[in-house]
Amino acid sequence: MWDNSATQENIEFRHMTTHRTILVTSALPYANGPIHLGHLVEYIQTDIWVRFQKMRGNTCHYVCADDTHGTPIMLRAEKEGIAPEELIRRVHGEHLRDFTGFHIEFDNYYSTHSEETRQLAETIYGRLKERGLIEARSIEQYYDPVKEMFLPDRFIKGECPKCHAKDQYGDSCEACGATYSPTDLINPYSAVSGAAPVRKESVHYFFKLGKCEEFLKTWTRAGHLQDEAANKMAEWFEAGLSDWDISRDAPYFGFEIPDAPGKFFYVWLDAPIGYMGSFKNLCERLNLDFDQYWNKDSNAELYHFIGKDILYFHALFWPAMLEHSDFRTPSKIFAHGFLTVNGEKMSKSRGTFITAESYLQQGLNPEWLRYYYACKLNGTMEDIDLNLEDFVARVNSDLVGKYVNIASRTAGFITKLFDGHLADRFPDEYPWYEQELVGYADEIASLYESRDYGKAIRLIMLLANLGNHYIDAQKPWELSKNSSKRDYLQQVCTVGLNTFKVLTLYLKPVLPSLAKNVETFFNLSPLVWTDASVKLLSHKINSYQHLLTRIDPKQIESLVEANKQNLQTAVQPEPHSQQRHAEHQQHTIQPIADTISIDDFAKIDLRIARIAKAEHVEGADKLLKLTLDIGSETRTVFAGIKSAYDPAQLEGKLTVMVANLAPRKMKFGLSEGMVLAASDERGGPFVLIPDEGAQPGMRVK
Ligand code: MSP
Ligand code: ZN
Repeated sequence: MWDNSATQENIEFRHMTTHRTILVTSALPYANGPIHLGHLVEYIQTDIWVRFQKMRGNTCHYVCADDTHGTPIMLRAEKEGIAPEELIRRVHGEHLRDFTGFHIEFDNYYSTHSEETRQLAETIYGRLKERGLIEARSIEQYYDPVKEMFLPDRFIKGECPKCHAKDQYGDSCEACGATYSPTDLINPYSAVSGAAPVRKESVHYFFKLGKCEEFLKTWTRAGHLQDEAANKMAEWFEAGLSDWDISRDAPYFGFEIPDAPGKFFYVWLDAPIGYMGSFKNLCERLNLDFDQYWNKDSNAELYHFIGKDILYFHALFWPAMLEHSDFRTPSKIFAHGFLTVNGEKMSKSRGTFITAESYLQQGLNPEWLRYYYACKLNGTMEDIDLNLEDFVARVNSDLVGKYVNIASRTAGFITKLFDGHLADRFPDEYPWYEQELVGYADEIASLYESRDYGKAIRLIMLLANLGNHYIDAQKPWELSKNSSKRDYLQQVCTVGLNTFKVLTLYLKPVLPSLAKNVETFFNLSPLVWTDASVKLLSHKINSYQHLLTRIDPKQIESLVEANKQNLQTAVQPEPHSQQRHAEHQQHTIQPIADTISIDDFAKIDLRIARIAKAEHVEGADKLLKLTLDIGSETRTVFAGIKSAYDPAQLEGKLTVMVANLAPRKMKFGLSEGMVLAASDERGGPFVLIPDEGAQPGMRVK
């Protein structure tokens, strides 16, 4: 049924008409570094796609794993004084914690250091060998005589042969950018022991890639790659395919090669096989048929999401290995570009090398980042930029200002005036709802399918504008003052909330946690794509809970600050390995102020106040206008808490106010007091809320 060589047109046709069976992977992160915002581009991109496929009703499995083998991991474990097995176990936990924190939902997150992967690696290697595609050959390499190990290029340092800068790595110079081989270095030394390396011979095993040229030329042109990637391939073919060294000598953390004592598979041989290993493990758990997905005649689709830096491995070695060991090859390789922050490479000194852990620890909402990445992503290999100012503006204006706003402007009426019941019909004039809001469902789906998330989001926000314009025009707040307009008010709010439901469905692949809260609010089972055309009428909803706060630019400042601090306190990282411990954040807690007498304190009249009303102030970007009920009277106070609260969230809550503060004339009106809230660079403002039982007007002493 499914044919790997199908043309683009008939793939798309099939997508519309049949149920699909899909296996998806993201690249396996190295087990020696923390997950950072660069990695997250890929995992968020993939997760959105997988969630979308599941909402479409397709069978879709998403597997990943830690990439655990190789010299850097072995040496890091040694440095920490632990076994590599222990290091990879700990990092596995950290990676999975970070991914879960960003709502990345793997069906299996495994490890390449597994029995499944070992067996599959042995099978594949055995078959390649049978076909005469493996060759043993003696080569000469740098060897550390003190540490008694062969040195990978990155672990040899010396003087650059071009510009004579000292202490450059064995593959390239950071001072002048020259690339060379370690034998070109002047006065080379081992980065592991400092010893002068010696040349030493040993037998290595090679995969004869050159023999796969015909197959690869056809395969790379058969629609499995993006155009830019296929062009890149043409360059590589021109340069000629050289044989690939797939073995390493002991000591090495990895799988020993069968019948070759002391020789191990090079990490990049078993890494992609880790995709299969992870899936095999999932099959054992869910009782799925592994072969149905990996046999040559498989009907399942197989997609690998990767960064452009590892295209060579996925577009050449990997399909060649699979083809010649009797497995199916990938349907498509989806390569994405690299993340820059504020237009530059992520930098530890600027604080823009931001770890996933620190982002979450600082209390930033993971869905803000998911949304921003979605806005920026498309199906190409172009780099994507996280501009921190734009990040704040985009999330605040789109998600809070446009999308959530639709619910916060309509839900209250349904709850308060109609006991949570939606109307049994829409009013007569609402053509935009069917024609545009619901009418674009297929278009949005095809944009998700082609990974054009940025375009999908722009379209969704245009549709959100339609909803807001409708509410602006109908003015439910005015309708609510007129009792003869009750039915109509209910219908208008029903259109508003249905609009919100459809928008939520469209955004659900990007904002899964928020969507879940909305489903609870609506009393709905999980939304699937076909629900776009289902109207909620005569339906009981729950009371509206605040869904999303704005980003306060201060939060971004402290995130960058925290990642700068990480660098200062971090241990010196190994060559090219990423710094892995997010050190505890340091905060400067403000010093306690000068002593005052009890009489001084008694001058402050603090009262319990009920927030009777909370409103946005036209033109003010920090203030909310609060109407406070303090029992004997009501006060109007302008409070600088807009960054942290949506007005709807505050209404009805109790707080503490300074009731005898002299009134202050502000640009927007007279402020008659002050509410108490806590804040410093860790966050806030957090409005103070009294314990249960407190009543408006009570004195706080
Ligand atoms: N272990 C290999 C992949 C083996 S797959 C069989 C590896 N690991 S990695 O941790 O360095 O990267 C994991 C993925 O994250 C890769 O696809 C890589 O391209 C991606 N990214 C790492 N840094 C990135 C950015 N700064 N920006 C975007 N993607 C980035 O490579
Ligand atoms: Zn140089």
